[in-house]
Amino acid sequence: MTTTSSAATRGGDGSGALGGAKIFIVGGGSGMGAAIAKMAVARGAKVALAGRSQEKLAAIAAGLGDSVLGTYSLDLGDRSTVDAALAEHGPYDHIVTTAADLTFAPFTSLTDAQIDGMLTSKFWGPINLARAADKHLAPQGSVLFFSGLAAYRQGPGSSIVGVVNIALESLAAALAIELKPKRFNVISPGVVDSETWAGMSPEDRKTFFAQVASGLPTGRVGTVEDEAHAALSVLENGFINGTVINVDGGGRIA
Ligand SMILES: NC(=O)c1ccc[n+]([C@@H]2O[C@H](COP(=O)([O-])OP(=O)(O)OC[C@H]3O[C@@H](n4cnc5c(N)ncnc54)[C@H](OP(=O)(O)O)[C@@H]3O)[C@@H](O)[C@H]2O)c1
Repeated sequence: MTTTSSAATRGGDGSGALGGAKIFIVGGGSGMGAAIAKMAVARGAKVALAGRSQEKLAAIAAGLGDSVLGTYSLDLGDRSTVDAALAEHGPYDHIVTTAADLTFAPFTSLTDAQIDGMLTSKFWGPINLARAADKHLAPQGSVLFFSGLAAYRQGPGSSIVGVVNIALESLAAALAIELKPKRFNVISPGVVDSETWAGMSPEDRKTFFAQVASGLPTGRVGTVEDEAHAALSVLENGFINGTVINVDGGGRIA
């Protein structure tokens, strides 16, 4: 039997639909975050979009009409701003962060600013969100972090990227126990065709994706919709908790 006081409490009977749920999405101005917002709204959810660039957030929000609770231009590293943004329309049923400001470069060449960007977006940022979730997330709500394949498959240039990714996976497991019954999960994407790779020329991007695809059992790189689909499954399923879902085309085991 399911007793429902909010959208986040559903799920024991498999009916964890997102209709009426409120979802706060950091990184909602591009890539997977934007795809999650669009897919969630199509399923009847209301979304709030956050990220540093108001222009990017506004462009995505414009396509989502009155399903958007608000757009918040903020840096995830700023704890009080994050807290204030969540307070405005909280409590939320789900909080998601896809935020990433990553630098792939040889370890000895990384600057403090580059390392700070990585720690802010994928270490302190998720910590700030989790602390805000203590107050602004429904009791049966969930938090979803995004890590990445570099957590398991380190290579030249991915040192700190891998470090912040693996740290998130440990954090989610700890919080699922400490902040129960709120759920904490992680999606670990493989290489996905998103704005992350916008810095590459179209030719280099095509070559890179083809090279990655040839080494994957799926024979292709991911789409942002692949990741969004998995993300919504994790939000909807009230029994997925304290775990990592690898949405990487088999990259971790290839
Ligand atoms: N794409 C891939 O191939 C891939 C592979 C493995 C893992 N992942 C992981 O999957 C997640 C989503 O990736 P994606 O491809 O969707 O990336 P994306 O399109 O680059 O989106 C990242 C978003 O994070 C926001 N952001 C960055 N730093 C922020 C900060 N300090 N505070 C608030 N917002 C911040 C950016 O917007 P602003 O710049 O406006 O703030 C941007 O909208 C990331 O965690 C990434 O590491 C991606």
